[in-house]
Amino acid sequence: AFDVELAATGRTLRVPADRSILDVLGEAGVAVMSSCEEGTCGTCETAVLAGEPDHRDSVLSERERASGRTLMICVSRARGDRLVLDL
Ligand code: FES
Repeated sequence: AFDVELAATGRTLRVPADRSILDVLGEAGVAVMSSCEEGTCGTCETAVLAGEPDHRDSVLSERERASGRTLMICVSRARGDRLVLDL
């Protein structure tokens, strides 16, 4: 599990091992656009302000992956304890 902080409000949400960031945001009433929910369409792309993403999508290029500045929240996760997202 890891925490996701929403930069706009400072709100922090816990993402358990068996849930996606997208699911947790949806349950918390935070609306984010999504479509495939399988890491293939790119709709849920979200900017990362801090923390290191654990990329599990098939959309981003190697360069984008390496930058650590964006992730697909329907499938990707955090390597550490916390991500700060531009939401
Ligand atoms: Fe398609 Fe996340 S909803 S990549």
